[in-house]
Amino acid sequence: MSLKSTQTRFGSVAVTLHWLTAFLIVAVLAFGFGAASMTDASAKAQMLAAHVPLAIIVVLLTIGRILWWWFADTKPVPVIGTPRWQQSSAHVVHILFYVVILGMGASGIGMLALSGAGPAIFGDTAGQLPDFWNYAPRVPHGIGARVMIALLVLHVGAALYHHFIRRDGLLRRMWYR
Ligand code: HEM
Ligand code: HEM
Repeated sequence: MSLKSTQTRFGSVAVTLHWLTAFLIVAVLAFGFGAASMTDASAKAQMLAAHVPLAIIVVLLTIGRILWWWFADTKPVPVIGTPRWQQSSAHVVHILFYVVILGMGASGIGMLALSGAGPAIFGDTAGQLPDFWNYAPRVPHGIGARVMIALLVLHVGAALYHHFIRRDGLLRRMWYR
């Protein structure tokens, strides 16, 4: 299997970046919602100590992915028989994924920078954890998380529809040969 994509399937770099990001985003969402629901400060700090570095890895992988598509690789053509409106909606969902991930990264870093919560999360002063709702980026961060889940539902729904109903090999072309 080649590093780059062909007209009919994704290459190994795109496949690896896709599934690594997908797996990490699920963990980042779980740690994020987990942290937001904690009342105990040290449990919340522990969740954030996992949430923040994993999220930063997701953001870096996403920047790498955008650069990869931009400079090195070309996406396969749509699977034969896919109606035009489905091609356009898939395209919009994929672009929105990138926008929301980068927006979540920016608002997350903004929250941390404005609140100065770094030492409380990564040190042993969890008791001094601030209320993140006092900082403006907390609002778009919460909205972005819900938009991300909506995108994920649409995206996974479409992938399963192709796999089980249309049986057109779409899921297989986003995997190693
Ligand atoms: C949060 C997690 C996910 C994100 C951010 C994501 C994002 C994307 C993006 C942006 C693309 C377009 C190709 C690219 O730019 O690399 C894509 C393609 C694809 N994704 Fe995901 N994805 C996620 C999870 C999943 C899951 C769980 C599945 C399957 C159940 C899946 C199945 C696919 C398939 C089959 C394609 C190829 C579509 C085609 O052949 O045109 N993705 N995904
Ligand atoms: C892919 C990127 C990211 C995703 C998907 C994500 C997801 C989430 C989610 C789901 C929540 C809970 C939201 C809610 O319940 O309203 C959250 C909260 C939070 N996230 Fe992120 N996040 C990301 C990036 C970041 C980054 C880069 C940072 C810091 C550098 C960060 C710091 C925080 C903080 C401080 C909270 C607040 C927890 C609280 O209110 O108790 N996030 N995130």
